[in-house]
Amino acid sequence: MPNDAPRGDEPVVRHDRDDARYVLRGSTSPSPDASSADESAARIPAGGSAPGAAPGLAPGPRPAARRPSRALPIALIAAAALLLLALAAFATSLIIVSQQPEGNPLRDRALFVDPDSNAARAAEASGTEEQRAAAARIAESPSAIWLTPERVQPGTASGVVADTVAQAKTTGALPVFVVYGITDRDCGGFSSGGLPGDEYLDWVDEIAAGLGDRTSIVVLEPDSLALASECPDPDARTELVRSALERFSGTGAEVYLDGGHSAWLPAADMAELLRAAGVDQARGFATNVSNSQATDAEATYAMRISDALGGAHAIIDTSRNGAGPPTDGEWCNAAGLALGDEPHALDDPVVDAVLWVKPPGESDGTCNGGPAAGTWWPEQAEELVANADRLAGGS
Ligand code: BGC
Repeated sequence: MPNDAPRGDEPVVRHDRDDARYVLRGSTSPSPDASSADESAARIPAGGSAPGAAPGLAPGPRPAARRPSRALPIALIAAAALLLLALAAFATSLIIVSQQPEGNPLRDRALFVDPDSNAARAAEASGTEEQRAAAARIAESPSAIWLTPERVQPGTASGVVADTVAQAKTTGALPVFVVYGITDRDCGGFSSGGLPGDEYLDWVDEIAAGLGDRTSIVVLEPDSLALASECPDPDARTELVRSALERFSGTGAEVYLDGGHSAWLPAADMAELLRAAGVDQARGFATNVSNSQATDAEATYAMRISDALGGAHAIIDTSRNGAGPPTDGEWCNAAGLALGDEPHALDDPVVDAVLWVKPPGESDGTCNGGPAAGTWWPEQAEELVANADRLAGGS
């Protein structure tokens, strides 16, 4: 993954509307609007009349001869009050419904924790006590499962994926996969490789067959679009991503194309690339994959992209962003990173969830002392956990 130098020329400034929306995200308490609607509904006394609700019922002198029987006004008051209560409840439900993210596939779903992850194995393997403890800590949280042609070879992909999906189903958990095998993958970076065009699409077909119609999450080809302009044939790459995306159309997968990150391409450019790759056929896009930009900045970026696309949804990788990005802009096995927010779904119109897409503790490549890309790196795992603990402790 190159995921490289911050190149964003767009200042990340949260505008008011974004702020207003962001306030809602992740909050389990009702929004200000919803709670005030609730209050106003609650202020109408049950069986009584709200102020001004029933004109003509205010006490006042009336000619005795024309005084109506008590039964009629009581019935009218009760009917008016019921009507008001019904209207208030309806209005409240409209407000709440309009704030719910439509069809968020991650909402109320437990995420699959791979018992065979690199972290889980490292927790059992040799190393210092701190390193094993760090691995065990990381292994407890759901991280995405990366499907690369090296690990899941063509000819085996359907079976491997089907097994994982079946395993997840036994606990009712939702598996999150990353498909990472596109031709020329990171165009000469630490994760070079990938499969030639036709073989690649056959391999994606196998993955799609393995997923079947069960719900799963797929992050499609990290960096592929943001990096396209640095690859030999950007249009062919975009077309290949589009073709790969089409392969998932008959499956239960909710696909998020990769959308770079807030310090890389400007939102408008990223939106254009996503559009060209057919994001309208996907649930949306993923940001910050394997990077460490702060969640707020990513949320703002995601909203801008979503606005440009007319409402695509997003997920944000928080696996290593707890301390934000390093000041020197390093992306590859940067020092000083910390685990970020635990994966969880959000009540947000744009951002469906924060997830651990890059498994923390796995190297970005042979840079800054790390082993080959994707290899478990005990020292990094230990540092990520120690820094997260330090931040949680307020120091
Ligand atoms: C590597 C993959 C690895 C993934 C997650 C990528 O940079 O190229 O092999 O699975 O990171 O660690």
